[in-house]
Amino acid sequence: MRIDVLTLFPEMFASPLSFSIVKRAQEQGLVEIALTNIRDFSIGDYRKVDDKPYGGGPGMVMMPGPVFDCHEHVTSLAPTKGRTILLSPQGTPLTQAKAAELSNEDRLILIAGRYEGFDERIRIGLGAEQLSIGDYVLNGGELAALVVIDAVVRLLPDALGDDDSAKDDSFSDGLLEYPQYTRPEVFRDMKVPDILLSGDHGKIAQWRRDQALQRTRQHRPDLLDDSDTPQ
Ligand code: ADE
Repeated sequence: MRIDVLTLFPEMFASPLSFSIVKRAQEQGLVEIALTNIRDFSIGDYRKVDDKPYGGGPGMVMMPGPVFDCHEHVTSLAPTKGRTILLSPQGTPLTQAKAAELSNEDRLILIAGRYEGFDERIRIGLGAEQLSIGDYVLNGGELAALVVIDAVVRLLPDALGDDDSAKDDSFSDGLLEYPQYTRPEVFRDMKVPDILLSGDHGKIAQWRRDQALQRTRQHRPDLLDDSDTPQ
């Protein structure tokens, strides 16, 4: 997979992309991540990329010209057109299912904006979908793009080692994950549940499922609303 990120702050990406699973996935050639600075496609002495909104109102809006030119350039860097995604609180929510869907693409082009948002013609003209990482407003799309990259890359085949697994992750079966314990058996008077020490794999699996359901009911009842709720 190739992931291109169009951003005004490429420096924000260096550290998060150079650790752990995302780092290893790049080294293994499972994903290539390329950063391009939108400001390199601005025109004029001031390298302007934003302007006042038509109709008035606070803040500034990302201008279409630099984003279009940047996108055109980036598109030409690889043979596949890919899927273009604007990070925006107006987008459809990022879910585990959406991350899994995106992990099947051979190319993603993520556009991280700043200011009050994008000129609407960017979304329309580039045929871009919009993705939100949650119902809150960030100062820009960079952290959201990093969240998308992190969630997608760990789902690429072979990204997780034998010791890690995405199959029991929260949401992978529509439920939150069950509680986990490791050594020591007793820590500050808190003991690992006996069932996990019993060696009875059937009972352990049942306990984990009950715990997952209980947690989901308590913290995320909305996940159980669907008609295909696991019982
Ligand atoms: N940009 C600003 N806030 C955002 C959010 N919640 N999700 C995605 N992009 C954003």
